[in-house]
Amino acid sequence: MAVQHDHILILDFGSQVTQLIARRVREHGVYCEIWPFNAAEDDKIKAFNPKGIILSGGPSSVTEDNSPRAPQLVFELGIPVMGICYGQQTMCEQLGGKVESGHHREFGRAFVDIKTDSPLTKGLWETGAKEQVWMSHGDRVTKLPEGFEIIGTSEGAPLAMIANLEKNFYGMQFHPEVTHTPHGSTLIRNFVRNVCGCSGDWTMAQFREESIARIRTQVGDKNVVCGLSGGVDSSVTAILLHEAIGDQLTCIYVDTGLMRSGESEQVVDLFRNHYNIPLIHENAKDLFMAKLAGKSDPEDKRKAIGATFIDVFDKCAKSIGNVDFLAQGTLYPDVIESVSFTGGPSVTIKSHHNVGGLPERMNLKLVEPMRELFKDEVRELGRELGMPEDFIARHPFPGPGLGIRIPGELSEEKLDILRQADMVYLDEIRKAGLYDEIWQAFAVLLPVKTVGVMGDSRSYEYVCALRAVTSTDGMTAEYYPFEHEFLGRVSTRIINEVRGINRVVYDITSKPPGTIEWE
Ligand code: XMP
Repeated sequence: MAVQHDHILILDFGSQVTQLIARRVREHGVYCEIWPFNAAEDDKIKAFNPKGIILSGGPSSVTEDNSPRAPQLVFELGIPVMGICYGQQTMCEQLGGKVESGHHREFGRAFVDIKTDSPLTKGLWETGAKEQVWMSHGDRVTKLPEGFEIIGTSEGAPLAMIANLEKNFYGMQFHPEVTHTPHGSTLIRNFVRNVCGCSGDWTMAQFREESIARIRTQVGDKNVVCGLSGGVDSSVTAILLHEAIGDQLTCIYVDTGLMRSGESEQVVDLFRNHYNIPLIHENAKDLFMAKLAGKSDPEDKRKAIGATFIDVFDKCAKSIGNVDFLAQGTLYPDVIESVSFTGGPSVTIKSHHNVGGLPERMNLKLVEPMRELFKDEVRELGRELGMPEDFIARHPFPGPGLGIRIPGELSEEKLDILRQADMVYLDEIRKAGLYDEIWQAFAVLLPVKTVGVMGDSRSYEYVCALRAVTSTDGMTAEYYPFEHEFLGRVSTRIINEVRGINRVVYDITSKPPGTIEWE
């Protein structure tokens, strides 16, 4: 925990977009954490010592029995509180106001008429202005608690924005955290910086310094091992650790043979030659192919790859000897507890194991310096650490690698074909300047052969499917709307340049119902 910085606490009532509130708060240099509303015990809140509290939206209706409530302490600490959507409604209900099920439901774009000035809207929205916001609600506040006044109204929510200016309690029916509320981020800035008085000193430069000090305290003079996957999270973890503890860190790169073209060389070059970090580069291609032989079911393949990885990693780590810690690139979204409306001990914590099962198997203590960061903060930290931009901006790549991009049984021949097709596809994406607009783009080699004609001859070769999606977190995704001309160009190049493929198709499935990877 970043003890020396100002803290904002976000209590989650189960909204789909709670993480965006945290992103917005942090964008303005203020550290915040998300806690489920029902895990926020009074003494925990006091110990966290927030300078302000934000109550998120959520799917419940405060008019229902047993709907969630904020701990009453939230309103007794003498600090500013901002309620968003459901958060506003429960605040009103808990402070003596009234909420009714909607007479007029509002979903999507709406306009708020600003009725009076307030510190929240200062310098942003003037009295008399009409401001665009994004609403999603069925219920609305119909009677204000004592001490509250109206700041703004909308057609569907006469009490769209309210405040108790004396106590610094604010409520809004709309969602300032989504980009569809054009000035929402500034509104959140006004809350955390002006109303709560946070200084905005939580930067990646600061994080780097503090994190290094924490790592040194945690690790002491013991040795640490870190698995590199070629991805951003494990790379930034390793470089930060190296800065903290130097050669007490050894990295292990397990070459599964399921990497893309040139990828292993890049990783080895960056870590061994550029950063001079002790690195074990274990070539385990043959072992992986042997373990995958005869396996065509996606789950069997994933399990075989995962188990083999752990075996190889374990063997490499043991060869170092005297290792006490395992460093992992676990990120904040993997750590945030999800809201459980039943409460009690069933609350689950999602823990991400990049190298699934390793900590248990190896009996090592964990170092997870990224536990507080979102993905784009990790990228920023990577920049701060001087990592090459093309490494930082990389698309995510799954642990099982190309092994899950060839449906059915793998072979060296298929892997080679896929590597070449993928390289051509990504080359065209980069040339078109589209790489950074896309969350993930890759080729899939289908285990299907079709007939074609090349020159005067008949061909009978594999089909290549292209996938490209936009996403913010990989949980949901939209297929990328390439121009037809671009797709035509990629198809021509792949068929001309890659022996073994004579047909290219584009996957236009979003997630859900599809997943991003094909297996
Ligand atoms: P799906 O296919 O579930 O993928 O829509 C969502 C995101 O997760 C990545 N992915 C993985 N990453 N190990 C990983 O480290 C895995 O086993 C794995 N499977 C999928 C996928 O590439 C996408 O970004």
